[in-house]
Amino acid sequence: MSTFEPVLTSNITKENSHTLDFYQSIGGYSAIKKVLSMSPLEVIDVVKASNLRGRGGAGFPTGLKWSFVPKDSEKPIYLINNADESEPGTFKDRLLMNKAPHQMLEGMIIASYAIGCHTSFIYIRGEFYREYMLLEKVVAEAYENNLLGDNILGSDYSLDVVIHRGAGAYICGEETGLIESLEGKRGWPRIKPPFPAIEGYLQCPTVVNNVETLSCLPHIITRGADWFQSIGPEKGPGPRLFCVSGRVKNPGVFEEPMGIDLKDLIFEKAGGITNDNKLKAVFPGGSSSAILTAAEAIDVKMDFEELAKKKTMLGSAGVIVMDETVDMVHACLNIARFYAHESCGQCTPCREGTTWLVKMLTRMVKGRGTLKDINMLFEITDNIGGLIDFSKGSYGKTICPFGEAVAWPIRSFVEKFKDEFIKYLPQEKVAA
Ligand SMILES: Cc1cc2nc3c(=O)[nH]c(=O)nc-3n(C[C@H](O)[C@H](O)[C@H](O)COP(=O)(O)O)c2cc1C
Ligand code: SF4
Repeated sequence: MSTFEPVLTSNITKENSHTLDFYQSIGGYSAIKKVLSMSPLEVIDVVKASNLRGRGGAGFPTGLKWSFVPKDSEKPIYLINNADESEPGTFKDRLLMNKAPHQMLEGMIIASYAIGCHTSFIYIRGEFYREYMLLEKVVAEAYENNLLGDNILGSDYSLDVVIHRGAGAYICGEETGLIESLEGKRGWPRIKPPFPAIEGYLQCPTVVNNVETLSCLPHIITRGADWFQSIGPEKGPGPRLFCVSGRVKNPGVFEEPMGIDLKDLIFEKAGGITNDNKLKAVFPGGSSSAILTAAEAIDVKMDFEELAKKKTMLGSAGVIVMDETVDMVHACLNIARFYAHESCGQCTPCREGTTWLVKMLTRMVKGRGTLKDINMLFEITDNIGGLIDFSKGSYGKTICPFGEAVAWPIRSFVEKFKDEFIKYLPQEKVAA
């Protein structure tokens, strides 16, 4: 058993853990004091040295992303806290917002200071009404105590925080869709480059960071980059909130070091498979990650590099467990329906392809599929999200990574459980 001590969630079971009084009683906001005595470049260097990688899905190095923001920008610079959390199987940011909102806010102040931002946004998922109401109070409390607003804690630095509610679209979690939505437009992702760090909100330099990423920052500042770097794998260290759901006895959010064995998460932390059934397959990083078979899942670490070697990804660390009772064709259809519903419709392969996938899979579960359909499923996923060949980097056929987020999981279902798809075909069509 590991000796890891939770960092981000260490106090969430305590009474009133969401209040300013509580947060300050455990040393909260001391990182801000330290940061205000450093230069912005020094703060960026500490975060770079920690090797913190984004917790929102893409795993991009946080300090490096900040360093792309022009130092001599004549335009205002913005920070957006991505609190949209809409990836299926992911429910960690909501926990952080409910139970440790000041930790997240302190992280926002640190990030804003580092990039030279004076107006920062929290873009919160529309359905999170309770969290929105709580954050309104938390932000007001911070203003009253000179932790936000003009001349924070008597320094030269000023910052405003604005909370903006989304309207329930998955695509508004994608950073450029989010920025469009924040500008009051339809949440249509933008073609990159330019990346938001150069041209983001209102065409100004903008950094988008996830709630959990930002929540790590006070700890990195207080305890140092070496401490953070010492937790888990060198290329992607730190504590991580793993959301385990599906066919497990004890679903929930588990804070563990990066690099934990997936089998320990499922069988120790989440109590094993419901009814002691057999494990069948796992999404390791939300529904946008390619699934792992049981054999693959029991032999992999929850680490960016290890999962990439297995042609899947850590993504949002939303672990969805499927057992022997799960019908893989139905599960695949379920996922396809979600993506067809959530496609923003800008790119033809994504808009049309996701609808075709649903039509074909529906036909299949009704027993009207053909062998050709199985090849067609591969062809359509290739056209939406490219062939899965990480070594050649042969992906990227759509404006945003939603294309891959559809193609990779769907393709993995058909590739890894082809026999189940074939069983759905009328026997005369299999023989034909
Ligand atoms: C379709 C799609 C949905 C996304 N949804 C979210 C989300 O709900 N929350 C989030 O933090 N990142 C989401 N992302 C990732 C963001 O685009 C972005 O990479 C992230 O917010 C950056 O923060 P980080 O560097 O701290 O991880 C999504 C990406 C895609 C392609
Ligand atoms: S890939 Fe899909 S979701 Fe992304 S921009 Fe294109 S149509 Fe919209």
